[in-house]
Amino acid sequence: MANIKKEISKRRTFAIISHPDAGKTTLTEKLLLFGGAINVAGAVKSNKIKKTATSDWMEIERQRGISVATSVMGFEYNNTKINILDTPGHQDFAEDTFRTLTAVDSVVVVIDVAKGVEPQTEKLVKVCRMRNTPIIVFVNKLDREGKDGFELLDEIEQKLGLHVTPLSWPVGMGSTFKGVYNKYFETLNLFTPNKQVVEESVEFTDINNPELEEYLGDNAELLREEVELIEGVYPAFDKQQYLDGELSPVFFGSALNNFGVKELLDAFIDIAPTPLGRETEQRFVKPEEEAFSGFVFKIHANMDPNHRDRIAFVRVVSGTFKRNTPYLHTRHNRKLKFASPTAFMAQKKSIIDEVYPGDIVGLHDTGNFKIGDTLTEGEMLKYKGIPSFSPELFKYVENADPMKSKQLAKGLDQLIDEGVAQLFTGKHTGRKIIGTVGALQFEVIQYRLLHEYGASCRYEHITLYKTAWFVSDNKEELEDFRKRKANNIALDKEGREVFMADTPFALQMAQDKYKNIRFYFTSEFKE
Ligand code: G4P
Repeated sequence: MANIKKEISKRRTFAIISHPDAGKTTLTEKLLLFGGAINVAGAVKSNKIKKTATSDWMEIERQRGISVATSVMGFEYNNTKINILDTPGHQDFAEDTFRTLTAVDSVVVVIDVAKGVEPQTEKLVKVCRMRNTPIIVFVNKLDREGKDGFELLDEIEQKLGLHVTPLSWPVGMGSTFKGVYNKYFETLNLFTPNKQVVEESVEFTDINNPELEEYLGDNAELLREEVELIEGVYPAFDKQQYLDGELSPVFFGSALNNFGVKELLDAFIDIAPTPLGRETEQRFVKPEEEAFSGFVFKIHANMDPNHRDRIAFVRVVSGTFKRNTPYLHTRHNRKLKFASPTAFMAQKKSIIDEVYPGDIVGLHDTGNFKIGDTLTEGEMLKYKGIPSFSPELFKYVENADPMKSKQLAKGLDQLIDEGVAQLFTGKHTGRKIIGTVGALQFEVIQYRLLHEYGASCRYEHITLYKTAWFVSDNKEELEDFRKRKANNIALDKEGREVFMADTPFALQMAQDKYKNIRFYFTSEFKE
């Protein structure tokens, strides 16, 4: 017990989120450099799928390879084990990102000082706020001209709905960028362009100290005024409020110049939450519980079609995961043993014997897992919080090669388990409908079915607006709805009924007419 508490207290598991190009990859790389996990800049490949590459399959396969390597990056720094979970930048993969966010305990949001808050940032922060995930904001690219600091804080508060408090403050920006005053550590960091080494910071417990002029000249007085203004306008930092997801500290810097990154990391280690427990359908599980439990939040297929095994990524929530120990796969009610569980240290994968809460373990899987599955030492638990959302795009999927219908069924089944898309089957027609959040997935599915399963599929147009899971205690109304909407009712992969609304109007009509039916737009709802 004492041991597990110690392991928990030294761990931090988080994700960096941003709109593409704000600097997520660059920041990740600098953090890894501090941990000594890599030793050359440029070692972390961007997992961006460039917009132009939407029909370039080799590119997608290459990216998929990269994203296996960078899915989880673990490293040690100052006696702390840090796990960074990578999130795809491309918006078509937003659902992957949402799921990854269920496996972290906090996030760092990167914002480009010139572009401010961008749409993808808004979406992702919204998901974090729904779960009260603690958020740190890093304003990046201070070596470039950008928005005024106060204007940016306003924008962050308004667009992201966050309460913020700056813990560092820039002195100038772009060509006049002098450095950053760090309120949290009470230090001044002076900026030297194009210098990749970390500057020693100068301690300034009192910024009224006239020595500040020696470093900043005329800017010293301006900094004092701005810091006074900050202290008047923004609340003092309160760690508990941050941990409750109610107050977000903001840091300024330049990832490319490795400036302000060490301060971010040091403050992060100080304040970020240690691995937290999670809700299951049965009860809340605390990390320090002795019995191991965890959930699958991501599944990655092997890219080699001759080895169709997959890696299931499991977030350890409680206890210690041990190699070669039978664990209960609660959905199948069956025990499974894992001979070669993988831990992720930077870009190296290695087989490990024990894994602790907050860590991610990769398990070889021959098709037993799907996203959201729970593993325990024997207790029947089911972790919550990995819902499917109503997809936004839909197509009928048809078999294009009658000789390969088995392969198609198997391939579709496995791709859906991986969370690539959702599959619905028309209750009346039996036709299969694929639903996704991005257009790219349709092409990914077609390509992977062919290359990994030897199956061909063809898509057909369908006019659909949204799917809604529905329930009611009023049997008559439910029967009437089922009868009248028979052509618009399908079953999801678990066999649950969904209403397939053709248009926003049709959905509204149904909601108005059937007052005793409750419609839900995510698969996980409380009744
Ligand atoms: P992303 O993962 O969020 O998509 O962003 P990424 O780190 O790839 O950064 C996007 C671009 O912004 C990169 O330039 C990167 O070098 C640049 N960048 C990141 N941090 C800073 C910074 O602090 N200052 C400045 N001036 N630029 C920064 P690129 O030209 O798109 O790519 P590359 O060829 O440099 O890799």
